[in-house]
Amino acid sequence: MKFKKIAALALTATLAVTALAGCGAKEEAAANSLEQIKKDGVLTVALSPDFSPMEFVDSSKTGQDQYVGFDVSLAKFIAQELGVDLEIQAMSFDACQTAVYTGSVGMSISGYSWTEERAENYELSDYYYAGENETEQVLLIRKDDADKYKTAEDFAGVDVGAQNASLQQQLVTEQLPDSNCVTIGDIGVGVLELQSGNIEALAVADGNGTQIIASNPDLVKCEWEFDVKAEYEANVIMIHKGDKELLEAVNEALAKANSEGLYAGWYEEALKAAESETAEEVSVDD
Ligand code: ARG
Repeated sequence: MKFKKIAALALTATLAVTALAGCGAKEEAAANSLEQIKKDGVLTVALSPDFSPMEFVDSSKTGQDQYVGFDVSLAKFIAQELGVDLEIQAMSFDACQTAVYTGSVGMSISGYSWTEERAENYELSDYYYAGENETEQVLLIRKDDADKYKTAEDFAGVDVGAQNASLQQQLVTEQLPDSNCVTIGDIGVGVLELQSGNIEALAVADGNGTQIIASNPDLVKCEWEFDVKAEYEANVIMIHKGDKELLEAVNEALAKANSEGLYAGWYEEALKAAESETAEEVSVDD
């Protein structure tokens, strides 16, 4: 009896030591991803820079400076609020989402619409203002086809492009069920596919469509537009599932940006940057 008790005590003591050792090791690793970001001093944000005016490339610059647009201003603000540096990792739109899903990046700011499916698989921030970019969703078509494609029915059996893993892909599948949805990795490539006749239309956010047409005057918006739910009109930041502390910090930063009235200025600035990019593109083409 007595021996058993001592053995039990010894075992408890061993467990306690192991537990302590475990605690010691844990002190090294951060308690959560927000702590880790602060410890590393870097916030890594994934984005797909093919979505002017939200995120795009300023071709006159190199390195991290080449990424510009509304979301880049927002990412910089959040990093500043967290007191850390910002590192932008550019990748395709679907890769951005995979990276957040697997946790290889802390978050992605890439013009995400809130969707039911994303809400299930990720932490989604509160809404942030994204100008007029996504209040409407449209189809780009070639100017020469303006009379050919006027209604949803006109797209039956027709190849309609949409970015892979995007809201626009969902809209094509739901609202143009008789068309053939062709998924495209990069919106810029989608534009080329449309111009070369590989696809007949490209589903894009309205504001993004305006930017695309500015540098591609051979394209126009189709008269017919998608039906857009109010939930899809603003944007959200995508965070790895379960990273509640980071989510909270991001929402605090968003609330601050909103109350300080920063959104409108960032959007203006993004439009200006997009304009000079278009001017440059057109002069390169000429
Ligand atoms: N808002 C749309 C979505 O959530 C399009 C976003 C595309 N963003 C980009 N950087 N390409 O799917």
